[in-house]
Amino acid sequence: MFVSFEPDAAETVVFEFEGQKISAPRGASVAAALLASGRPSLRATPVSGAPRGPFCMMGACFDCLVQIDGVTVQACMTSVADGLVVQQVPRTMSETQSDHMNGDGGFVEHVK
Ligand code: FES
Repeated sequence: MFVSFEPDAAETVVFEFEGQKISAPRGASVAAALLASGRPSLRATPVSGAPRGPFCMMGACFDCLVQIDGVTVQACMTSVADGLVVQQVPRTMSETQSDHMNGDGGFVEHVK
């Protein structure tokens, strides 16, 4: 399982994932914080419902997608912050969201 290199970091922040409060070292990515908290799956694919979670941790695979303030982002490329509200990407994204992701580069899973 994923373990933080700095479990006793001096500065921690508290954010929310699916209604649960999670503490993480300031500067950690949302993906690292969620993995360290024991959450390997962050979403389900829109088509099959298969679980997906952080894989590459460098912005290449898009398996770590989450929503923050209604915007779909890569959890591995987003730093935690106090009060951040993180949610799973809805399994059935609207066509508008799907088109936005396709035009934004990289996310190619279509929902029709
Ligand atoms: S883990 Fe691959 S893009 Fe975030």
